[in-house]
Amino acid sequence: MAAGHWLVLGTLIAIQCGCTVGLPKVARDATERDCTRNPPYLPPTVKVSTEDLRRLRLQMADHNITAYIIPPVDSHLGTYSAAREKRRQWLTGYTGSAGFAAVTTSRAAVFTDSRYWTQAEREMDCNWELQKTISSSDIVEWIFQEIPSGQNIGFDPFIFSIEEWTNYNNLIKDSGRILKSIPVNLVDIVWGAERPSLPNSEVYSLPDGFVGRTWQEKVSNIRSQMRDHSQKPTALLLSALEESAWLFNLRAQDIPYNPYFYSYTLLTLTSISLFVNNRTRVPAAVTTYLRTNCPESTCVDVLDYEQVQDRLTEYVRGDVKVWIGARYTNYGLYEIIPPMKILSEEYSPAMVTRAVKNDKEIQMMKECHIRDAVPVIQYLLWLEKTVPNGNIHEMDGAAYVESLRTKQEHERGPSFETISAVGLNAALPHYRATEETNRKLNVDEIYLVDSGGQYLDGTTDITRTVHWGKPTAFEKDAYTRVLIGGIELTRLIFPPRTLGRVIETFGRRALWEKGLNFGHGTGHGIGNFFSVHEWPAGFHPTNIAFTKGMFTSIEPGYYHVGSFGIRIEDIAVAVETDTEHMFGGEKYLTFETVSLVPYDRNLIDTSIMTEIHINHVNNHYKKIRDIMGRELQRQNLMEEYRWLEKNTEPLPHPHSHGPLIKSSVTLLFATFAACMFL
Ligand SMILES: *[C@@H]1O[C@H](CO)[C@@H](O)[C@H](O)[C@H]1NC(C)=O
Ligand SMILES: *[C@@H]1O[C@H](CO)[C@@H](O)[C@H](O)[C@H]1NC(C)=O
Repeated sequence: MAAGHWLVLGTLIAIQCGCTVGLPKVARDATERDCTRNPPYLPPTVKVSTEDLRRLRLQMADHNITAYIIPPVDSHLGTYSAAREKRRQWLTGYTGSAGFAAVTTSRAAVFTDSRYWTQAEREMDCNWELQKTISSSDIVEWIFQEIPSGQNIGFDPFIFSIEEWTNYNNLIKDSGRILKSIPVNLVDIVWGAERPSLPNSEVYSLPDGFVGRTWQEKVSNIRSQMRDHSQKPTALLLSALEESAWLFNLRAQDIPYNPYFYSYTLLTLTSISLFVNNRTRVPAAVTTYLRTNCPESTCVDVLDYEQVQDRLTEYVRGDVKVWIGARYTNYGLYEIIPPMKILSEEYSPAMVTRAVKNDKEIQMMKECHIRDAVPVIQYLLWLEKTVPNGNIHEMDGAAYVESLRTKQEHERGPSFETISAVGLNAALPHYRATEETNRKLNVDEIYLVDSGGQYLDGTTDITRTVHWGKPTAFEKDAYTRVLIGGIELTRLIFPPRTLGRVIETFGRRALWEKGLNFGHGTGHGIGNFFSVHEWPAGFHPTNIAFTKGMFTSIEPGYYHVGSFGIRIEDIAVAVETDTEHMFGGEKYLTFETVSLVPYDRNLIDTSIMTEIHINHVNNHYKKIRDIMGRELQRQNLMEEYRWLEKNTEPLPHPHSHGPLIKSSVTLLFATFAACMFL
């Protein structure tokens, strides 16, 4: 899945919007609102928000604020959240995952990026301005126009990250306005009884065969990190949902695509408290599993979710220090801890420890990638047979590949919403097909499919780009350069603890050479049955340095706006390699690819590849043939097996190179020999 959060992407978006703004606007699409008409035209897809806004403004007055900022996230600051937590969506009607809302006494606006403008025009009524920006300084500037100095701007600290709060506070503090933390959520008050209840999926422990480290081992590892830390933290507060899921080897299904449950953990040197919404959904067997060592220090107290604030308040009265990962801790909890008693690092030791997989965890990732390659191969073969004379649209494809995955062992649903995109739609890296955009797959255009699965042993994510007809020379050139980018980054040898951002340019070099590039990240961490974007491993500037055992996607691409898009994504693990020397005294690292699906031969132009590139692909193909050949036969998929044999034939070495090199060597030798005799 394309890794987002890139400044480069912001630039691309700006360029794209620059182009569209210049075009004369064609007759307005009736699926979008028209606020210039009187009365305004509203398509049936909008939410009418007048009454809810009126009631929100009453709440704002009660709390002595004249502006209120509403972010899209919940208290755990992840990508996905339960329906109950989608406050901005509910109030505004706009359902895109990114974007803030701000409400003043007389105006209201949604701020979002170009991916979502059309959607916002379809979903919001005319109470809401669409502000085509996501920068906090633009949001603050808009609010300043509305409210004079001396007044209060309110926010709910439990759905703001520390970083976001710092951002807003810096922008507001010298302006005469006050950023006021209001610990009850005003949208929730207005939402009232209609607000969905807390999710209640059953919490379960991972079966023994799917555990890399027991939770007791993890607890003792984290505690020794606490003891060894120079700042002597006495407790660790875990806020991200994946952190508690990781620590206890527990999973549930509270939110889409991610196997988590709403929870916090306070782990001290002597006690463990797990705060879970609705304790009754934790089965007795799980409670027993968490309490086998009671009353020793590895005994988990399962407490109510709402108690986290009180418990933390009580705990920080003592002579303590609380370790937090700033990126995933909300400002509300942070505010509870006196500044002298905080040890704040960007990522908690739980996140950092999780990033480095042990042998068992690596093994599990490899095994789920073998099973996951089966539905992808089945899908590619099916497309090849069906598209030329069929009537397959993007959404059919997405549904079909997801249905193929469900037939694999230990499968637990998709790891994100499949990207199935043909032609110009594929040029949008984060495209999701909708009824309005759903294009038909055809032999004249490039097709891109980015999909992944959750399995008890691991999470997968793979992108393949294919063409069933005659691709243009430019399409083949771009595809091959994307492929070369992946190869060059994968086969790179680098010292341990090298930052991903230092080496990610190897994934772009072949594209840059032609003045081409892509506007998203080069890859993100991934692991054993967690979010598909697993922080903090990867190539993003905020990711931590690579050590052996870290998994990442490697996913260069190229997007030709209005025409086609290419992305090739494999998952790889950082492994040690032998080098002639070993400056620094430690083994150097390289990547081993664990995704086992061949690339599209129809789009590869071997004439721009070197021997090294071709050998790299051919070695990988040998491995795919060996491992997947056995797996496809085991699953009795003989047609797929024959497809695999054909598609993993070694790539031919370009004829020009072989003889050329040979003859120049001969020439060199001849010259050398001639010199000797002279
Ligand atoms: C409302 O907030 C303003 C600005 O902080 C303050 O001066 C005023 O006293 C507050 N009013 C009430 C009723 O709390
Ligand atoms: C708590 O979970 C149990 C078991 O899933 C469920 O029956 C009950 O309705 C839930 N209670 C609340 C308050 O959501």
